[in-house]
This record gives sequence, structure tokens and C-alpha cells, in this order.
Amino acid sequence: ENGFLLGSPNSISSPRVLTQDELKKIAAYKAVEYVESGMVIGLGTGSTAKHAVNRIGELLQQGKLTGIIGIPTSKMTHEQAVSCGIPLSDLDSYPVIDLAIDGADEVDPFMNLVKGRGGSLLREKMIESACKKFICIVDETKMVKHLGGSGLAMPVEVVPFCWKFSAQRLRNLFQDSGCVAKLRVYPESGEPFVTDNENYIIDLYFQKDIGDLDVASDTILRLPGVVEHGMFLNMATTVIVASELGITVKNK
Ligand code: 5RP
Repeated sequence: ENGFLLGSPNSISSPRVLTQDELKKIAAYKAVEYVESGMVIGLGTGSTAKHAVNRIGELLQQGKLTGIIGIPTSKMTHEQAVSCGIPLSDLDSYPVIDLAIDGADEVDPFMNLVKGRGGSLLREKMIESACKKFICIVDETKMVKHLGGSGLAMPVEVVPFCWKFSAQRLRNLFQDSGCVAKLRVYPESGEPFVTDNENYIIDLYFQKDIGDLDVASDTILRLPGVVEHGMFLNMATTVIVASELGITVKNK
């Protein structure tokens, strides 16, 4: 069911393997099937969420959805949603959101996520924690056994003031896990990456398991100077994973 290998079984040519972006789009379109007219929708950020925003815009244009209010999780998504004709508002006006759709960088077997490699973790977490339902959409490359175990970054948003001090304290917290803490910079200029909230991001890289995630989360958040981190624990209510073999929908 829902297999995606393209090409008929009788054709001589071998089936085409889908690109990662095509898988992202498949997951996003599946999530948009949950959107109903009149809903307030949290609009995620990133190359996967972008497909969901486009699709919602398309359905609005076609009159298949009406009365949608979008709550964008970043300035970039705000611009995209405006260009798609999605009416927008914010959390101040809509403190309860019906449904949010967003991507992730890592998803563990318990539906805990790492987010924020795109830099929008704070607004994403504010909005996605105010949702009745949060659908996380990913291609299969995002599935991991343990968060922080993919060798990729675990982002932490910090205030710019004395960021080196914060980076040092973050590294010290996880020294048993072989933590390396790096300031995120724009590759072109080498200047610090600045979030939508005018903060910096320290990316943490671990050589070993970081242990209990709730403990890690609380410990990071207790550091003065830290604004938020990219672990989204127990927040996703549904995870939609697209792979060559089809779509998997996992619910809480
Ligand atoms: C941005 C995010 C993104 O959802 C996450 O980085 C996944 O991005 P992509 O869909 O481009 O792989 O958390 O802050």
C-alpha cells in the first residue's frame, strides 16, 4: 500500500528512485489531508514544511479549503505564506492552534524530535507547544535510534551576550558525551548566524549518547543565556514518514 517506486511492473526500464525532495513533498501532502476549512494552522519552516505551505495555498486558491488562518514559525515562512495567499495571524491573537505541520532533523522511535537546523527552533517550539495536534513530516533519512546520535547538530539558541561563555558551559554540561559546541555562522561570510529573534545558535555535536533526554533538556534550559534548545520532547502527536516503500503514519 502507498508504494512509490515509479514505473509500471511490465516496463523494461527499472523504476525511478524518488529524490529526497520528492519524499518530503509526499509526506507534506499527506499531512495537508488533515487540514480542514476554518482551522488555525501552524506553518512550519524548512524544505519539507515548504511543500505543505504551498499545498495549503494551492487548496485555498482552488476553493477546496476556506477560512484558514496560518501562524508562521519564521520570517521566511511568513513571506512564503503571503506569496501563497494564506491569511496570517499570530499566537497573541490565536493562543490555541488546531494543527501544526512541520519538518524535523531527527525523529526517534518515541516521536521525540531534534529541530532547528534551519534556525527557527524558538518560534517553532512556541507555536507547536500551543497546538492541539502537531504533525511532523519527514523523509526516512531523519529517523534515528537516539536523538543527537546522527553526528549532526543539536541546536541551542543563546543570547549574543558572551556567547563564548554559554558555549563553554554547554560543552561542560555534556563533556562525558564528548560534546563539541560550535557557533553557527553563515558559510559565505563567516559571520554569526542570527535568528529571527536576534539571537545566536550554538550547535552541539556529541560523540556518545546524551543519556536521559528530559534531564538533558532541563539542564540546558537552566543555563542563563540559553533561550531554547532544539529537542522537541513528547510534542509531536503524529509523525508521517515517507520512504521509497510508502508512507508510514505513526500516532501517539
Ligand atoms: C527549522 C527546522 C526544520 O523543520 C528542520 O531543520 C527540517 O528541515 P528540512 O525540512 O529542510 O529538512 O526545524 O528550524
